[in-house]
Amino acid sequence: MKRWIAGVAAAVCVGVGAVWAQNAPEAIGPQEAAVLAAACFNCHGPEGVGQGPIPAIAGMPAEQLVAMLNAFKANEVPGATIMGRLARGYDDAEIAAIAAYFAGDFE
Ligand code: HEC
Repeated sequence: MKRWIAGVAAAVCVGVGAVWAQNAPEAIGPQEAAVLAAACFNCHGPEGVGQGPIPAIAGMPAEQLVAMLNAFKANEVPGATIMGRLARGYDDAEIAAIAAYFAGDFE
């Protein structure tokens, strides 16, 4: 009986550890950041320079871009159409990397 409980406890600990490791923000390097940022080019134009009615995001300071993406995520931007849904797809580390990319912080 004791052994059975220890086995279950160990399995739970391993499971929680794996989930925690997945969610822990890790610094993302320039290459992966470029891949993440490329997902924005379709709408925001090549390198995020803006396209039609869609605003430019290239050269935006990283703190501003992080704040905007978190505001979209939290549904705090009135009139937003698609960005809320998109922003919710990224965790903090990914948002930081995307922001650093468009701010030019990797260069
Ligand atoms: C499907 C098209 C589409 C994609 C893909 C897209 N955006 Fe947007 N983005 C928009 C639209 C449209 C707006 C205007 C707000 C709205 O309607 O949601 C916007 C607005 C923004 C704004 C606010 C800019 C400002 O000055 O008001 C930021 C920041 C932004 N997007 C960042 C990003 C980032 C970073 C990515 C890539 C992870 C991205 N967007 C991908 C369509 C897109």
